[in-house]
Amino acid sequence: MTQGTGNQGKAWSGVFTEATDSRMEAFSESISFDKRMYAQDIAGSIAHARMLSDVGLLTRAEFEAIERELTNIKGQIERGEFAYSSALEDVHMHVEKALTDKLGDVGRKLHTARSRNDQVSTDFRLWIRDAIDALDRALANLQRAFVARCDADFDVVVPAYTHTQRAQPVLAPHIWLAYVEKYARDRERLQDCRKRVNTLSLGAAACAGTSLPIDRNLTAKYLGFERIAANSVDVSSDRDFATEFAYDLAQIAIHLSGWAEDWIWQSTAEFDFIALPQPFCTGSSIMPQKVNPDALELIRGKTARVVGNLTSLLMLTKGIPLAYNRDLQEDKEPIFDSYDAVSAALELAAPIVEGAVLKRDSINSRLNKGYLDATSLMEYLIRRGAPQRTAHGVVGKLVRRGIESGVALADFPLETLREASDLVDETVYDYLGAQNAVNAMKSYGSTAPEQVRFQIDEWKKRLGL
Ligand code: ARG
Repeated sequence: MTQGTGNQGKAWSGVFTEATDSRMEAFSESISFDKRMYAQDIAGSIAHARMLSDVGLLTRAEFEAIERELTNIKGQIERGEFAYSSALEDVHMHVEKALTDKLGDVGRKLHTARSRNDQVSTDFRLWIRDAIDALDRALANLQRAFVARCDADFDVVVPAYTHTQRAQPVLAPHIWLAYVEKYARDRERLQDCRKRVNTLSLGAAACAGTSLPIDRNLTAKYLGFERIAANSVDVSSDRDFATEFAYDLAQIAIHLSGWAEDWIWQSTAEFDFIALPQPFCTGSSIMPQKVNPDALELIRGKTARVVGNLTSLLMLTKGIPLAYNRDLQEDKEPIFDSYDAVSAALELAAPIVEGAVLKRDSINSRLNKGYLDATSLMEYLIRRGAPQRTAHGVVGKLVRRGIESGVALADFPLETLREASDLVDETVYDYLGAQNAVNAMKSYGSTAPEQVRFQIDEWKKRLGL
């Protein structure tokens, strides 16, 4: 057997007669990644100790010594002066051991009415709560980047696509606000997730609660938790709050990926709609002419691991029997990894949105290709009494003639249009051409300029612009 570091210092060694195998120590440690939760672990311990002193399980002086020493330990960790060892498994053991080394018996009282099972769940909830708040700020920042360019791009009409085929003309800011709406739902989802994250686990102890006279309301108050988990078995067994957060992260990544994909193809020579800011592009080591959209490709590419991490959490918890099982230690790395990838992507996305330039001449030179105004003509006929199916057929035939002769609808002489339908008169030209088709729009939420203007103003108010 490979001897480990011995059981010295292990909080649970009493019943053991043999030392832990070093391979077991290396296999089971989580300190290498859960040290990221040191601030939450210390905040949770201070709140727990404060509650213990409120109910008389610690004296006031004992609590104050614990609070002072935990604050010192936090400083040591932040200054890089703290020594880690895989023999101590995780962040909880490290902090508690450092405390006990300093305070002796007083330190040994901190774990009263607490287990690492409710402690780790508490730390993780606090960490995710902070992560949600940081993501909300980053998403708002990205929304601001899109809204901030809406005024300057208000004069630009672009094709909207369905099936990647030219469909109808829209204002460029209508597209920008389409992304803004997606990130708004992402923010709402995070706020909804936050309600369930913001629940106190501490007090569940190992799985059954405690016979000691704790007051969970106080602990919840000190940590800013809005609810208290009502079932000790449930809360020590579940990670659905983390899985839900992993989904929210995956949905943000998917939204970012869709936008990245749009801008990647729109920046190609074939489209030539948008110039990406060079500080976020890279070149080729062999082809001197290349300016590649690597930032957008990596934003799209990182979505893979973020979706994978969601799958990891679902699979991790699919067969977990009640209550705590050590498998649950595997919950943190997928969340940290998804959070890091999505945060970094959001941080890059905002300056890319700010720095991209629409290539107006190139967009305009082809805007009247592709019969983007066909639906506008159809609706003109409907307004004048044609049944929709009839109007659709009439315009379809006109478009066919146009394709064959290389003529846009707006360039057909009036007689030709009247041959197709006697509902047409010279007012038809007010509805043909991409800009006219946009101006003819009316419905709420459409690309009608007054609708888009209204939405831009709403978003400016909401985002404090
Ligand atoms: N490192 C563990 C985790 O992340 C902490 C809880 C361990 N509890 C236990 N009874 N071994 O889940």
